[in-house]
Amino acid sequence: MKHSESFADRLYYLGGVPKTKPMDIKVGKTLKEMVELDLKAETESIDLCKEIIKIAAEENDPTTRLLTEEILKETEEHADKFKRMLE
Ligand SMILES: [Fe+2]
Repeated sequence: MKHSESFADRLYYLGGVPKTKPMDIKVGKTLKEMVELDLKAETESIDLCKEIIKIAAEENDPTTRLLTEEILKETEEHADKFKRMLE
């Protein structure tokens, strides 16, 4: 949620309007399934962050790039935590 708010603030600053409809949330039936779904969501977020960083660099937007790099770092830490839990 904190990351979504950061991206929304940045979008407002750039003159855009963020989507207000959240995506569906998948909840696992077991603890293992929950962690697997969390890991999948983090992995998808990592891919999206890398894409945003690439585009921000191409568009000469260092603020968005730096913001996204910080979010990527936290997201990778979360993914690592979930990977270790599954091991
Ligand atoms: Fe996370």
